[in-house]
Amino acid sequence: QIFANAAQASRLIAEEIAALIRDKADKKQKAVLGLATGSSPLGVYKELIRMHKEEGLSFQNVITFNLDEYYPMQPTSLQSYVRFMKENLFDEIDIPPDNVHIPDGTLPRDKVAEFCAEYERLITDAGGLDLQILGIGRTGHIGFNEPGSPLDSSTRLVTLDYVTRTDAASDFFGQENVPRKAITMGIGAIMKSKRCILMAWGENKARIVQKAIEGELSEQVPATYLQQHPNTLYVLEESASTEL
Ligand code: GLP
Repeated sequence: QIFANAAQASRLIAEEIAALIRDKADKKQKAVLGLATGSSPLGVYKELIRMHKEEGLSFQNVITFNLDEYYPMQPTSLQSYVRFMKENLFDEIDIPPDNVHIPDGTLPRDKVAEFCAEYERLITDAGGLDLQILGIGRTGHIGFNEPGSPLDSSTRLVTLDYVTRTDAASDFFGQENVPRKAITMGIGAIMKSKRCILMAWGENKARIVQKAIEGELSEQVPATYLQQHPNTLYVLEESASTEL
């Protein structure tokens, strides 16, 4: 679906999320959401906060799993995805803190693999992801699954692509300060989500959006894997769709 602007597109996504949450609440079930960071989902989070404050949308029955976190990373750092999620969503809604899951960038290296396996177990125990929202990096990454990530990759510690570190440079006041690694939910876990919504805004995403949607399936562009997902919606701003 192509929209004139990101605000309209974000509203559509937020409405779908709200409908899912309400439907699950009616059935006395939990809604299990896979959440993303970056600038792309900001409009969605703003709209969800508005729905909470103005329409009484409750997040009491919501469980969330974030896609990724830089490694190493302290949760209080400016660039932390824990901090990002608190500031842009969690502090503004009524989600129970225990229902929130974000990869832990503070773990010692020898504890990361165990943490990642446990992260996937928690998703499975929650009943699997009902909906995963995704942005896309210029390398074609989803989460931090960079080029070379296999279709069955699990949640793991990865090395960030040079392009990704360049794109993050301004957030870190220089590329040399961008961590070289991150913990990301694997492609395998993303593909198991019952539904995915990939969003892309702006002309600098147009080339990678074309490759992701129309390009040959390739581990060099991990977002192409979504072509094989049975229930994925691509939500684009017109400016991001010009190469299609
Ligand atoms: C980071 C995140 C990705 C996100 C990407 C795009 O790399 N780890 O999950 O999709 O940035 O960011 P933006 O939405 O700001 O373009």
